[in-house]
Amino acid sequence: MKIDILTLFPEMFAPLKQSILKRATDSGKIEINIIDIRDYTTDKHKKCDDTPFGGGAGMVMMVQPIADAINAVDKDHTAKRIYLSPKGRKFCQSMVREYASEERILLLCGHYEGVDQRAIDLFIDEEVSIGDYVLTGGEIPAMAVVDAVARYVDGVITKESLDEESFSNGKLEYPQYTRPQEYMGLKVPEVLLSGNHGEIKKWREEQSYIITEKMRPDLLKGE
Ligand code: ADE
Repeated sequence: MKIDILTLFPEMFAPLKQSILKRATDSGKIEINIIDIRDYTTDKHKKCDDTPFGGGAGMVMMVQPIADAINAVDKDHTAKRIYLSPKGRKFCQSMVREYASEERILLLCGHYEGVDQRAIDLFIDEEVSIGDYVLTGGEIPAMAVVDAVARYVDGVITKESLDEESFSNGKLEYPQYTRPQEYMGLKVPEVLLSGNHGEIKKWREEQSYIITEKMRPDLLKGE
């Protein structure tokens, strides 16, 4: 899978070169291209933002550098183009699966007060928010999208990890334990040490239900 990220702050994406994502890119399962929007501005001072028409606080990213950057990397519009913004559709696990099935996605990161609306109207397929709060820019949301989507690209992590995790069956995941068997008086539940796979499966299903009912009862409503 190919992922293009358009940003004014390419250095913010250093965390993508760690751990599972590093392995996925090193092995060629995912190709991540970070594109510096500033490289495409025609302004002689390399300016990419300006004050909003109509007044108001902050700066707005100009359409020209964004348009030229998108046209340079995805001229034929083969990528699904996503703009990260608090106004977008709320990101969820079904969207993760949907994006992972694409050959290519392009993530546009806004910064400051966002981007000129014409950049969205002309070039973007979908506006996506990672939650009901406002961040300083779309870079951290873009990393969240890349991380979540990468896990669903074939071969990046094991299929079992995806089957057992939170949201995979509409519920949250059961609690996990590892060594030691006792810590500060708290013991690992007996059933997990029993070797009885049927009982373990049953316990995990029950726990999954209990934790979902407590933390996210909304997830059970559709049952
Ligand atoms: N940019 C700023 N806040 C955001 C959010 N919550 N989701 C996506 N992009 C954003």
